[in-house]
Amino acid sequence: MFQLPRGTRDFTPEDMEKRRYVEKSMASTFRSFGYGEVQTPTFETLELFTAKSGDSIIGELYDFSDKSGRKLTLRPELTAPVIRFYVDKLQMEPKPLKLYYFGNCFRYDRPQKGRYREFWQIGCELIGASTPEALAELIALAYYAIKNTGLENIDLRIGNLDYLNQQFDTNLSEYYPGGSAEVYRLIDKEDLEELRNQFTEVGVPTEKQNEFMDFLDSSSTDDLKRYIGDLERKHYEKIISMLKKEFGISRVKQEMKIARGLDYYKGMVFEIDAPVLGAEKQLCGGGVYDLVKLFGGTDVPTAGFAIGFDRVILALEAEKFTFPSFKIDVYIIPVDQEQIGKSIEVAQKLRKKGISVDLDLLNRGVSKSLKYANVRNAKKAVIIGPKELKNDSVTFRDMKTGNQELVKIADIVSKLKNN
Ligand code: HAM
Repeated sequence: MFQLPRGTRDFTPEDMEKRRYVEKSMASTFRSFGYGEVQTPTFETLELFTAKSGDSIIGELYDFSDKSGRKLTLRPELTAPVIRFYVDKLQMEPKPLKLYYFGNCFRYDRPQKGRYREFWQIGCELIGASTPEALAELIALAYYAIKNTGLENIDLRIGNLDYLNQQFDTNLSEYYPGGSAEVYRLIDKEDLEELRNQFTEVGVPTEKQNEFMDFLDSSSTDDLKRYIGDLERKHYEKIISMLKKEFGISRVKQEMKIARGLDYYKGMVFEIDAPVLGAEKQLCGGGVYDLVKLFGGTDVPTAGFAIGFDRVILALEAEKFTFPSFKIDVYIIPVDQEQIGKSIEVAQKLRKKGISVDLDLLNRGVSKSLKYANVRNAKKAVIIGPKELKNDSVTFRDMKTGNQELVKIADIVSKLKNN
């Protein structure tokens, strides 16, 4: 017996129904905001991801060398690939350029529920716009893409890395000559107790500790007045007020404890959680970032987000959401071998009209076939026997009620459409 590689999964037809439903729903929300789909390769050059993050990211990647010794990696996310694509081929496109993607990503994470080594992201990149209305629209898009799938309970939190960096520089940088990474890691983990301990260990005076912690706790734009200049704050305030008023999102929270795990962010950042998921509750992360210049393009504002697709499915399941299930429209049952030809003919005729049809391929007879049709969730059964065929008819059975009637072959399509 072969085993699945750790952190990967197989998906049954039922799983795939759920996944296709969520994918379609999200893609349709993205399209309704004017986004067009792009696709990039599953593997990229290793350098694409080390360019910003340095070699320390390699421990989290599935990197490998191909037979010619090229250093490659399975993609851990899609922002860097999409920006590589943009710099290479799309820079001349009219702005703002709105792109969305759906694809598998690979991270050498420690697997647990909601955390996999192969997982799927669906997300958007907005290139060439950074006005408050552009950013508010982007955040609203992430929110509604999740909400429109039918998920009830989500929280949206909006932070700002420039503000966090300023506070780090003012209060902590002299005690952390190696940079902010360790502090931000603990903020990201929401481990503020450990953060305090560490401050004391590296000798941050209590006053500066308190100042930094107070900033992390500021939960209204008023609180921010102490730390941030008017002009900057207005931009941030406008994003939050538009989300509440024009985009109609009431559950928006200001949150200065958003540090984001990736190195390319700056300015506004945001996250969306599904509290029902517990530890791995983060469904979506995004914000404003810088990669275009680093990748050799002409500087242009960029912002985006990615939704953890697998976690959305888990959250819908946890909320006991009823996914639309796939049902075959018709199951055709030839009464005996003689009617197989005619059954296939009828099946083909219905399929051409976009009706989903399956038929008994095992010659199992009527009663066994009806049982099978039932298990397969067929809506109707069409029984084709010698007597019926004499009148160019079939027996048409409603699988839910068990009611049967004779229907002319020529009338099956209209009968199905009217049911
Ligand atoms: P990220 O926060 O690293 O951001 O990932 C986005 C989402 O992917 C997370 O919120 C989470 O739901 C999901 N996710 C991450 N790792 C795993 C995993 N091992 N298993 C299951 N789900 C996971 C990004 O990747 C950025 N590229 C987002 C972005 C786009 N920023 C700007 N544009």
